[in-house]
Amino acid sequence: MPATGEPLIHLERPVSWVALVGFMGTGKSRIGWELSRSLALHFVDTDKVIERVAGLTIQQIFEVFDEATFRGFESEVVDRCVALDQAVVSTGGGTFTRADNRAKLLERGPVIALRASPETILERTRKHPRVLLQVPDPLGKINELLEVRKPFYDLAPIQVSTDGRMRRDVVAEIIARLEAWRDEREFDGEAWLREHG
Ligand code: S3P
Repeated sequence: MPATGEPLIHLERPVSWVALVGFMGTGKSRIGWELSRSLALHFVDTDKVIERVAGLTIQQIFEVFDEATFRGFESEVVDRCVALDQAVVSTGGGTFTRADNRAKLLERGPVIALRASPETILERTRKHPRVLLQVPDPLGKINELLEVRKPFYDLAPIQVSTDGRMRRDVVAEIIARLEAWRDEREFDGEAWLREHG
């Protein structure tokens, strides 16, 4: 058992499918992988699928083709991911900003948006550079993109901050929020009224 007292594996999973969305560097891939281990689900990282199928890195796809081609690949992968079961799906930072992807992911649900401050994002994306942040002022670019994208990330029903937190604690919060999400959906108003009304 980890120090928090949280069990390592939740055999009674609250969900058998969940997607993580949010800006670059909010921890979608790392948290997604750990969440998948905790819930004993498969893990799919849409960027990794694109790279494997295209035989090119994201950077190369942007260079050899263009961003629009990458977005097309991304939407195709979203289509495949929503048809899966028993999976934690980690998306790219731009995925949820497109209406078609958003509609499909929200319908499949639940969708969790991970959040982090621009400074944290800068620090994390410095370690693993992103094609869109290879500019003279990456913090300025992060703020600019965040301003445009925040309203879309806000549409996810569950929001979780990863700023300055242990991954284990973030995963524990996500699982608790998924349990609450499931309980809300399973709530049978008529049965409750029969019992308490
Ligand atoms: C992008 C985020 C990246 C990757 C691509 C574009 C974006 O994924 O999909 O570089 O538009 O924000 P991460 O969020 O995993 O870095």
